[in-house]
Amino acid sequence: MEPVTSNLSTLRAALAAAHRRLDELFGSCVAALDGPVESLAQRLEAFDAAFRRHAELEETLVYDTLAPLPEFAELLSALRLEHTQIRELCGIARVKLDAGERDDVRLLAGNLARRLGAHEEHEEESLAPGAEDELSAESRKAAVEALAAP
Ligand SMILES: [Fe+2]
Ligand SMILES: [Fe+2]
Repeated sequence: MEPVTSNLSTLRAALAAAHRRLDELFGSCVAALDGPVESLAQRLEAFDAAFRRHAELEETLVYDTLAPLPEFAELLSALRLEHTQIRELCGIARVKLDAGERDDVRLLAGNLARRLGAHEEHEEESLAPGAEDELSAESRKAAVEALAAP
């Protein structure tokens, strides 16, 4: 049997690693803010797709599993709202870019960076510790493997 301490770090480590990959994709959007429109559009699309996939995995494999526990209700509803806000901001940024509104895209990117960072910290600091304790070993393993997949 695995020692408890190793299990305790697993979901948080998997979340953190997945978040750092999202940060890199988002950083590549920021680096392209003043470059050719096609390159920025491609990078925004890649971040959008990766974020949507990541958020869906979290909602399916972690949030939904914890949803029956009343002590998680408030946190999960805040985290789901953050997912929605990030997806919406990203969608608006892509529309604005298509419309040639670069200044708006820059403002949205700043807003997105703050929201993404805050959301990731929220999950790593507030969700992961409690989730480690409440998820079954099987659920935790499924979530960790899915989050770790490229
Ligand atoms: Fe999330
Ligand atoms: Fe996440």
